[in-house]
Amino acid sequence: MLDDVLEGLSGRQKTLPSRLLYDARGSDLFEDITALPEYYPTRTETAILNAAAPDLSRRIGEGAVLVEYGAGASVKTRILLDALEGLAGYVPIDVSDDMLAKTKPLLQQDYPELPIHPVVGNFLVPPPLPDIDPRARRVGFFPGSTIGNLDDADIETFLNGAAEELGPDGLLVLGVDLKKSPDILIPAYDDAQGVTADFNRNLLVRINRELGADFNLDAFRHEARWNEAESRMEMHLVSLADQSVTIGGRRFDFAAGETIHTENSRKFDLDELDAVLAAGAWSREATYTDPGQLFSVLLLGRA
Ligand code: AVI
Repeated sequence: MLDDVLEGLSGRQKTLPSRLLYDARGSDLFEDITALPEYYPTRTETAILNAAAPDLSRRIGEGAVLVEYGAGASVKTRILLDALEGLAGYVPIDVSDDMLAKTKPLLQQDYPELPIHPVVGNFLVPPPLPDIDPRARRVGFFPGSTIGNLDDADIETFLNGAAEELGPDGLLVLGVDLKKSPDILIPAYDDAQGVTADFNRNLLVRINRELGADFNLDAFRHEARWNEAESRMEMHLVSLADQSVTIGGRRFDFAAGETIHTENSRKFDLDELDAVLAAGAWSREATYTDPGQLFSVLLLGRA
């Protein structure tokens, strides 16, 4: 973490890796974001999944194994667990051992017959799957448009890794946020209650705590920007004054107005996404969306 932070702050545009947003407090704040009125992705994806569930179930067939990348509390997963017939197993993959340990008994209570095999790991480098019936069809689940937080190289790594792991008749259910007006996007990433601002600034709280840095939290403000050329929302922390910060014995100077770029959240055009999917060995078999075309859930098969 120290190396990543020092490297990110050494460039001309200072950056911090967005995965560092998710310590325990950051994960709680993200949960709060998903319930905000301005943050349309979670409720829209949930509605799409509910409507698509019967068709997904028909296309996937009986007796599959469901593998979820970055499972967290497995909330949206329940829509698939309810809809898919005769599931042979559920494999939630998450970096947080704690989260997996907390979620398993809750799921097991509601799905007593379902074999649940949690795997601790980073979904970018899919860890080996547990011993599951080799004849069962493997279906990946990557909701939330988390794919939009990855850069091109990581998307390709993820898609290729999932293709290999899920096998030739594998499927992938992917949540993808769609390109839309900045009038909708900017409030979604800069809400009136300031929860997203706290989520972003918590990165500095974490670096102060874990790396002994001395960021003055009142001297940085949250900013959400729409980058049209890259079709992405960006989160930045803007320095409110000329100031310097010490981390790991190194000093970093900030000019007033200079920013630390903390997250990209790409918004996709489905025709453009097809090329990205093809490079990762997948193609679209079914596309589900909402009436406002805000978000989409894709069923991918191997290209
Ligand atoms: C987790 N990820 C898909 C969220 C997003 O919308 O990119 C993270 C987030 N950042 C700010 N608000 C939510």
